[in-house]
Amino acid sequence: MSPVASKGVVMDGAVAVAAVAAAVLLCLHLPAVARGQLQVGFYNTSCPNAESLVRQAVASAFANDSGIAAGLIRLLFHDCFVRGCDASVLLTSANNTAERDAPPNNPSLHGFQVIDAAKAAVEQSCPQTVSCADIVAFAARDSINLTGNLPYQVPSGRRDGNVSLDTEANSNLPAPTFNASQLVASFAAKNLTDEEMVILSGAHTVGRSFCTSFLARIYNGSTPIVDSGLSAGYATLLRALCPSNANSSTPTTTVIDPSTPAVLDNNYYKLLPLNLGLFFSDNQLRVNSTLNASVNSFAANETLWKEKFVAAMVKMGNIQVLTGTQGQIRLNCSIVNNGSSSVGIQQMTVPNSYSGATASLDDEIATS
Ligand code: HEM
Ligand SMILES: *[C@@H]1O[C@H](CO)[C@@H](O)[C@H](O)[C@H]1NC(C)=O
Ligand SMILES: *[C@@H]1O[C@H](CO)[C@@H](O)[C@H](O)[C@H]1NC(C)=O
Ligand SMILES: *[C@@H]1O[C@H](CO)[C@@H](O)[C@H](O)[C@H]1NC(C)=O
Ligand SMILES: *[C@@H]1O[C@H](CO)[C@@H](O)[C@H](O)[C@H]1NC(C)=O
Ligand SMILES: *[C@@H]1O[C@H](CO)[C@@H](O)[C@H](O)[C@H]1NC(C)=O
Ligand SMILES: *[C@@H]1O[C@H](CO)[C@@H](O)[C@H](O)[C@H]1NC(C)=O
Ligand SMILES: *[C@@H]1O[C@H](CO)[C@@H](O)[C@H](O)[C@H]1NC(C)=O
Ligand SMILES: *[C@@H]1O[C@H](CO)[C@@H](O)[C@H](O)[C@H]1NC(C)=O
Ligand SMILES: *[C@@H]1O[C@H](CO)[C@@H](O)[C@H](O)[C@H]1NC(C)=O
Ligand SMILES: *[C@@H]1O[C@H](CO)[C@@H](O)[C@H](O)[C@H]1NC(C)=O
Ligand SMILES: *[C@@H]1O[C@H](CO)[C@@H](O)[C@H](O)[C@H]1NC(C)=O
Ligand SMILES: *[C@@H]1O[C@H](CO)[C@@H](O)[C@H](O)[C@H]1NC(C)=O
Repeated sequence: MSPVASKGVVMDGAVAVAAVAAAVLLCLHLPAVARGQLQVGFYNTSCPNAESLVRQAVASAFANDSGIAAGLIRLLFHDCFVRGCDASVLLTSANNTAERDAPPNNPSLHGFQVIDAAKAAVEQSCPQTVSCADIVAFAARDSINLTGNLPYQVPSGRRDGNVSLDTEANSNLPAPTFNASQLVASFAAKNLTDEEMVILSGAHTVGRSFCTSFLARIYNGSTPIVDSGLSAGYATLLRALCPSNANSSTPTTTVIDPSTPAVLDNNYYKLLPLNLGLFFSDNQLRVNSTLNASVNSFAANETLWKEKFVAAMVKMGNIQVLTGTQGQIRLNCSIVNNGSSSVGIQQMTVPNSYSGATASLDDEIATS
């Protein structure tokens, strides 16, 4: 039922159209925050140094370990695809049934300590003001700037959720075994287009992978094989790194883009036609003739891909966000504030003053 009809007022078509137009105009004149939208510079007055404090935390972690940037870019993706960008990916659970415990995240997802360090810094500067979900979005942006010299503005004003379920991570995150139609469907479920799926997959130009994500492309059980679309020489190198019985406890990792693993560039797209895409899913982008056209255009024009990549990152960062009075501003990014938890998720009592000035170093997630 339309808002006009629901008022129970009888209107003819022209009046109804005028009423809708007036409502739309009114809506356009409301501040963005009243429309439940994110805004660039949301913390301009409430916490003017929020974004620079996050940038410092990310830069400091990056100086120690440049691989942290890839971890933080992937952290936003894995947050946003599960219950929207609500920092649900950061929550811990007493019996290890939160998103971060699910196989797509454990043991590979990392960067939690950087978010904790950034949160500690902003809490000290402006208590109970900046959400963990916004910190995740800022940290991904800063990581893209550091690896790609690609600055962009990220709208903020997200609020934090209070639910995190491993089952939802398993069912919402695309697997490296997905074919083209499964990949497209997984992104369509988040209102992202086929092209945006190809654009965002270009994030695989940075970072690394554990053996289990590509083992089925190089072994059938214990027998060496070479998956279609994988270079035989590359498969030999990968087999030398990964034994056929590698599992989630095997600490070995290998870079996804062996040409320039720490630089955000368009080499990912150039490697695909050379049979150097690491995951089955990567290779799907060029064996599918529809998706292949985008692969070719991004391989040919890095500027084009970079422009579209930051736009797609912003769009991904808007998925199902909580705004206004929805959700909460978590005090500790790993746990919901006292009294707002779903069963199983850890909670904390709201303190008079926040004690977390230093980063928590108890992050149990392996980051090898
Ligand atoms: C299209 C579907 C996608 C699939 C199937 C996929 C799958 C994977 C897998 C299996 C890994 C390696 C995990 C491991 O074993 O360590 C990985 C790593 C990574 N993914 Fe994706 N991914 C996809 C899309 C994306 C998107 C949309 C982004 C971000 C925009 C992204 C960013 C990354 C990054 C940066 C890494 C490296 C992480 C690190 O070094 O810690 N991926 N991805
Ligand atoms: C915050 O300040 C920046 C720079 O002046 C401006 O572009 C942005 O629109 C402001 N945002 C808000 C919500 O005030
Ligand atoms: C520096 O990076 C290593 C991983 O490369 C990590 O184990 C260590 O905790 C980091 N140190 C700091 C202070 O962040
Ligand atoms: C990107 O990095 C440059 C160089 O460190 C810095 O001056 C700039 O403020 C950063 N831009 C954003 C949007 O973070
Ligand atoms: C992709 O995988 C799904 C699920 O396994 C399957 O139903 C579908 O036929 C596959 N599509 C192609 C084109 O192989
Ligand atoms: C996708 O868009 C539709 C229509 O606007 C909306 O109802 C739905 O909630 C959106 N889904 C996501 C995951 O954002
Ligand atoms: C992984 O493999 C090792 C060596 O084969 C084995 O000892 C260990 O139990 C396995 N771990 C898991 C989680 O399967
Ligand atoms: C190619 O991908 C499209 C989605 O973009 C899908 O509909 C189509 O089935 C795929 N074709 C093949 C041959 O897998
Ligand atoms: C993908 O594009 C490349 C380069 O233009 C071309 O050689 C190849 O045949 C294309 N593959 C498909 C499935 O369209
Ligand atoms: C590459 O893409 C950029 C951005 O869309 C565009 O301005 C430029 O003309 C393109 N270059 C070529 C050679 O097509
Ligand atoms: C979780 O937060 C929502 C508000 O976002 C609230 O309505 C709900 O009651 C909370 N759940 C629990 C279990 O506290
Ligand atoms: C985890 O704990 C919650 C509540 O304590 C419970 O509802 C859930 O069933 C537990 N999950 C498992 C796998 O034990
Ligand atoms: C946040 O909560 C976790 C889990 O209870 C705890 O280990 C950590 O010390 C807390 N961090 C801060 C800064 O208080």
